[in-house]
Amino acid sequence: PPHLVIAVDGPAASGKGTIARALARHYGLPHLDTGKLYRAVGLAVRLAGQDPNDSDAATAAALALDPELLDDPDLMSGDNAQHASIVSAHPPVRAALLAVQRAFAAQPGGAVLDGRDIGTVIAPDASAKLFVTALPEIRADRRHRELSAKGDFASLASVLADIEARDARDSGRSTAPLVRAAGAALLDTSELSIDAAVQRAIALVQAAI
Ligand code: C5P
Repeated sequence: PPHLVIAVDGPAASGKGTIARALARHYGLPHLDTGKLYRAVGLAVRLAGQDPNDSDAATAAALALDPELLDDPDLMSGDNAQHASIVSAHPPVRAALLAVQRAFAAQPGGAVLDGRDIGTVIAPDASAKLFVTALPEIRADRRHRELSAKGDFASLASVLADIEARDARDSGRSTAPLVRAAGAALLDTSELSIDAAVQRAIALVQAAI
């Protein structure tokens, strides 16, 4: 199809980012990791010495988002993930980041976006929607390995606790909660290798388009 938009949603460390990148490569489409936008807002608030629970401060940061923060070494840290999750629950923060995400999806040819609300809010008319999940223990183990490889030596138990706290916050918020969108194909990666998960994702997209 001339305009292929693929929405990939799911909880932390489910494999959605890896799958979204692989789909983008497979279909020759640009990819946006929307979690980075919320992470950049969380980081901006923290760097300014402000409280992520302060909706006005977080909204101001979202409206004046500095693209350089997207490459900051602290962007992907576990601490910043929690800040991202807190700022992302403020409705005006989500509203401030809506246009840039919709514009990305509207590019000629289409795009792949991954996040929490792509299939529900950002691109409800997406050509294909995937909801990627895995058991919390498996996600924690993956994230723990990832963080260790980067020199962030948080314990497995603390990584699991952080993931469960984020899951609860992301699923429990009233605006754009993490939920499987209508028409989204479910992909549980708990027992799958990366290659197998990507092959399955491509098959699900092919079935949807
Ligand atoms: O995907 P990632 O784990 O990097 O996202 C960080 C946080 O940003 C999530 O825990 C979630 O609170 C928030 N987020 C969101 N909506 C998105 C993407 C991320 O609320 N579309």
